[in-house]
Amino acid sequence: MTFTRVACLALSLAALSAGADKKAREKEQEARLRRGEASYGMACARCHGEDGNLGNYAYIRTLGGIGKRLTHKEIRQRLRPLEITPDEISIRSHIFTRKDLDELIAYVASL
Ligand code: HEC
Repeated sequence: MTFTRVACLALSLAALSAGADKKAREKEQEARLRRGEASYGMACARCHGEDGNLGNYAYIRTLGGIGKRLTHKEIRQRLRPLEITPDEISIRSHIFTRKDLDELIAYVASL
């Protein structure tokens, strides 16, 4: 095999594995959102509605599009998280791990 052919082969293999990496990342991202959605359904939907836009309560701001006006950090602050152990955070009497909370915020930001 010539050097060029080897180089081409190496390049196409690299491109293939980059494609696989991208797919795996997208899949993981999707799984994170689904886990965030499950937490939301359990702890938040009763006041904010399944889609974040329940308008029954005058004092509750709707969450639709919140990811466009607030950063993840600002959303986190508005949840008034209470750290109860280094890895456990309480929000409105529900306990989340840091990972749960990151996933929940990613989901809320996507509403
Ligand atoms: C018992 C009802 C109730 C529950 C349950 C609840 N919220 Fe809220 N939420 C409110 C009210 C009332 C406000 C507005 C006043 C305030 O900030 O407390 C609010 C405000 C917010 C805000 C700030 C919105 C803005 O535009 O400033 C966010 C973000 C939010 N809630 C997300 C959540 C998430 C995520 C959960 C689930 C962990 C949740 N809420 C659970 C009642 C609730």
